[in-house]
Amino acid sequence: MKNPTFAAPFADTQKMSSVKIFSGTISKYLSEQISEHYGAPLGALKINKFSDGEMAPEFNESIRGEDVFLINATCAPSDNLMELLLMADAVRRASASNITAVIPYFGYARQDRKDKPRVAIGAKLVANLLTAAGIQRLMTLDLHAGQIQGFFDFPVDHLDGTAIFVPYIKDLKLNNYMIASADVGGVGRARTYAKHFGVELAVCDKHRLRANEIANMQVIGDVSGMNVLLVDDIVDTGRTLAKAADVLMEKGALSVRAFCTHGIFSGPAVEVLTKSALTEIVVTDSLPQKHPDNPKIKVLSVAPLFAKAIRRVHAQESISTLFL
Ligand code: R5P
Repeated sequence: MKNPTFAAPFADTQKMSSVKIFSGTISKYLSEQISEHYGAPLGALKINKFSDGEMAPEFNESIRGEDVFLINATCAPSDNLMELLLMADAVRRASASNITAVIPYFGYARQDRKDKPRVAIGAKLVANLLTAAGIQRLMTLDLHAGQIQGFFDFPVDHLDGTAIFVPYIKDLKLNNYMIASADVGGVGRARTYAKHFGVELAVCDKHRLRANEIANMQVIGDVSGMNVLLVDDIVDTGRTLAKAADVLMEKGALSVRAFCTHGIFSGPAVEVLTKSALTEIVVTDSLPQKHPDNPKIKVLSVAPLFAKAIRRVHAQESISTLFL
């Protein structure tokens, strides 16, 4: 039986860990919203810089024994990843009890396998770096390939963009609509939407010559007379979506709307998409968005979803009910 005389002295000193949320530079806009939805201010963190650009994060409050969430997207340039690694290292050395990397957009995810000789598996390298820096848990959104979760030997909370896009699609109140995947690799994701809405699925079969360049695209499935909802994880140069919209319209689609979790919009992507046959492009704010007045691009916030997920992870509750 437990002796209460031994338990008593610890009662004053032992504390429950509380949630501390800190943000890296690139995700500050989103972290502020996440912390607002969570109901606690962002923790005090200063990213000092040497004159050559090297970063030196400094946490200005105690995190000893706390449940720490570090938010930063790891999109290019790789300074964003490096900043997160340095933040994790500092937090580990400051004796946090648990360190979760919250990565709204997981960069390098497109390098998820060795599909030709002499190439890197960038996503695995990033996983190794995060692990070496002291991260103990990952929370992220719509990984390019779900299997990337297996690159980590700790828990991964893989949030799902369906939580964001499904209510928006319902509000469109479309008739005669169906789902299309923008490429073969994304069929699983697109099928989740098709199953949920009980509609048909088409697939755009994209053949690339090299990264970001499309040689040709075929449509598998009948899209004639249908409003097509095109699903993809990333819009980078915009060429995949623009090409898919053209091909789908040629095959008789009535309209094509794109739902894409991560809006990178590199180079002339916004211009390419504005001129494309797409009716609209809906993305999330997993990455900073800089096209506020573009009538074709709609941005939905992932902040409430991340705030709820952080709350549940800290309370050790299920997160699967947050999405389909
Ligand atoms: C590729 O496999 C991804 O799912 C996206 O389709 C791709 O990254 C989009 O790239 P872009 O916008 O440059 O065509």
